[in-house]
Amino acid sequence: MKTTINQVYKHVGEEVTIGAWLANKRSSGKIAFLQLRDGTGFIQGVVVKSDVEEEVFDLAKKQLTQESSLYVTGTIVEDSRSPLGYEIQVSGIELIHEAVDYPITPKNHGTEFLMDHRHLWLRSKKQHAIMKVRNEIIRATYEFYNQQGFVKVDPPILTGASAEGTTELFHTKYFDEDAYLSQSGQLYMEAAAMALGKVFSFGPTFRAEKSKTRRHLIEFWMIEPEMAFMKHEESLELQEQYVTHIVQSVLENCKLELQALERDVSKLENIQAPFPRITYDDALKFLKEQGFDDVEWGDDFGAPHETAIAESFDKPVFITHYPTKLKAFYMQPDPDNPDVVLCADLIAPEGYGEIIGGSERIDDLDLMEQRYKEHGLTGPAYEWYLELRKYGSVPHSGFGLGLERTVAWIAGIEHVRETIPFPRLLNRLYP
Ligand code: 4AD
Ligand code: MG
Repeated sequence: MKTTINQVYKHVGEEVTIGAWLANKRSSGKIAFLQLRDGTGFIQGVVVKSDVEEEVFDLAKKQLTQESSLYVTGTIVEDSRSPLGYEIQVSGIELIHEAVDYPITPKNHGTEFLMDHRHLWLRSKKQHAIMKVRNEIIRATYEFYNQQGFVKVDPPILTGASAEGTTELFHTKYFDEDAYLSQSGQLYMEAAAMALGKVFSFGPTFRAEKSKTRRHLIEFWMIEPEMAFMKHEESLELQEQYVTHIVQSVLENCKLELQALERDVSKLENIQAPFPRITYDDALKFLKEQGFDDVEWGDDFGAPHETAIAESFDKPVFITHYPTKLKAFYMQPDPDNPDVVLCADLIAPEGYGEIIGGSERIDDLDLMEQRYKEHGLTGPAYEWYLELRKYGSVPHSGFGLGLERTVAWIAGIEHVRETIPFPRLLNRLYP
């Protein structure tokens, strides 16, 4: 019977056939151990000389090379020593394709070498686990928003206007017009919220940032919910429920992957709503007390500041009420103090940095027109956005969660380049 590694628990004692690749092997005398992978997981195949035909044992012990593809037939048995809990006692091997000189050997390789071979590196156990965690976060995202009555809406990738500022735009020609790759679907999601109430998007976004840090990608994926009739405070509650849901889903459904990644899950088990909140002003006071003298009121926080703040909490922390002049044009000023806006960045624990940026949006037409002037936003590309404030404007809020930073945090990965299948980085467009 044909099966896959993640289904072998249903076949204990039965003979099955699995299409697989050879990840690694070792042998001692009359026994060979094959580390097999099939995309769904990893399993050990045990080939005992006295139990199989001579060709099969020779193949296993000598000829089979790393990453060769094969059909393996054998009996599934329980094995408490393996993470999977099962192994396959091999009776037959059919070689499909022999891989010659696979470049990524079990020894250590440098990062640049691995990045040049990303198309193959993805096959490794660690990369496999990261991609599975990424997939679980995406699955849990759709589950959460569907349960909460949101509608998935797809904003365009080619746009005529910038959402987050003009310095980081990728420019392209759109026939005779100028176009930009989307930095954020937000402005379109606001229009969608006025049509459908509660909406969310999931798509690629592009930022021509000359930043070479462990938190920055040129192309990254964002989940952007936008909610009509929702004020800032209620949006924060939604955000903490959402993040709790994805963390708990990964804990529940990616046990083998978290084990393969050697993730300290005790740090994740604790992630339950509500999350602590601290205003920008209080965060600044805290930083000063900690001896940071390189930041004044009105400055943005850098990675070391965010890490210092995050380290005093064991859950993600919302930093709220940033200075108006630091943030995007569309953010709603605090009615009690218009020098700050009704916004929050959610900072992940353990130094992973900002995973969510969000705010209440300006819903007053006059104020939005004033902001347009201050930010020099002119031209037809922005006109439609003003009309959302002209026809039945309502209080509304939304936010964007950066998928790769979230994967990095939950999977415990140092650099975001390993959290997306084919990272686009400064100076890297290959493979
Ligand atoms: O804070 P940002 O810039 O917010 C927006 O784009 C809003 N328009 C979202 C909204 O309200 N709908 O980006 C949101 C998140 C950040 O918190 C971060 O997690 C991620 O996107 N992010 C990046 N991730 C990887 N590489 C980059 N260069 C990133 N820039 C932002
Ligand atoms: Mg931000």
